[in-house]
Amino acid sequence: MHYIYTNNMISNFLNKIICGDTEQLIKELSNNSINLIVTSPPYFGCRVYGNETLGREENPLEYIINLLKYTIEFKRVLHKEGSFYLNIGDIYFGTKGFSRNKGNYARKTDKHYFEHKIVKPDGKYLQYKQLLMLPERIAIGMQEQGWMLRNKIIWEKPNPVPSYSSDRRYPVYEHIFHFVKSRKYFFDLEIAKKLNNHRDIYRNGIEPFKEHQASFPVSLIKPLILTTSKENDIIFDPFMGSGTTAVAAIETKRSFIGFEINEEFCQIADKRIKESEVKIRYTLNLV
Ligand SMILES: C[S@@+](CC[C@H](N)C(=O)[O-])C[C@H]1O[C@@H](n2cnc3c(N)ncnc32)[C@H](O)[C@@H]1O
Repeated sequence: MHYIYTNNMISNFLNKIICGDTEQLIKELSNNSINLIVTSPPYFGCRVYGNETLGREENPLEYIINLLKYTIEFKRVLHKEGSFYLNIGDIYFGTKGFSRNKGNYARKTDKHYFEHKIVKPDGKYLQYKQLLMLPERIAIGMQEQGWMLRNKIIWEKPNPVPSYSSDRRYPVYEHIFHFVKSRKYFFDLEIAKKLNNHRDIYRNGIEPFKEHQASFPVSLIKPLILTTSKENDIIFDPFMGSGTTAVAAIETKRSFIGFEINEEFCQIADKRIKESEVKIRYTLNLV
């Protein structure tokens, strides 16, 4: 371990998925105790996972404010030499993601989507067909909080979720922002080069994990972990979903802490983590 922790809660949480609301749980993590944060929060107006409220706001600007309440806490718990990778997607107001339904705007029939009330258009920012630029607006909000943006990584997907329209191009990428807290932080460019991870556009296919529709691929996360943390460091994912960040941490010999509000996903993640640990033990011939 590189750092001395003053708060015992860290050891209670270490290498576990804690099932609960990050807004509450994060209060238990001490300042500067996490080496690396990798996460993908719920996107605005997209999938519904359970009883979460983030992403279900009526106004996209409220979503930004709510997400920024989390990022200020992430900044508190991150070590001064640590990094934060934020994967976030964008959405079109009133077209992609929402369809008209008796005055409300609801995502289509898929079981993951349900009616999502949304504010009326204002003819300015809130106009039908408007690309909301949520990733950029969130990133700017984080800069105002004192975060330093080091890279705006474009994750290009050869197999994106289809979003077709006859009067615009098809969206095929998402943002991964690399934020730090201070000018001196850990980054290994040589490892990044070895992994062909030293440029700011990655082409990496979605690896659909059947039990969680919005998981990011382990192969996307592992190079981020390897370039910006050391062995045994603590990797934190506050929106852990199916446990992808935890699996990537195990496979790269790091520790992890995961928070997830949905009990079903907690169980899925737990199972996935146990399978990874067994796989690693077999690989190292420990069993
Ligand atoms: C985009 S998904 C993350 C997927 C994850 N990266 C993976 O690979 O499986 C966002 C997750 O955040 C969870 N979530 C939403 N609000 C939360 C909250 N307040 N506290 C903890 N988890 C939350 C959702 O249940 C969902 O599983």
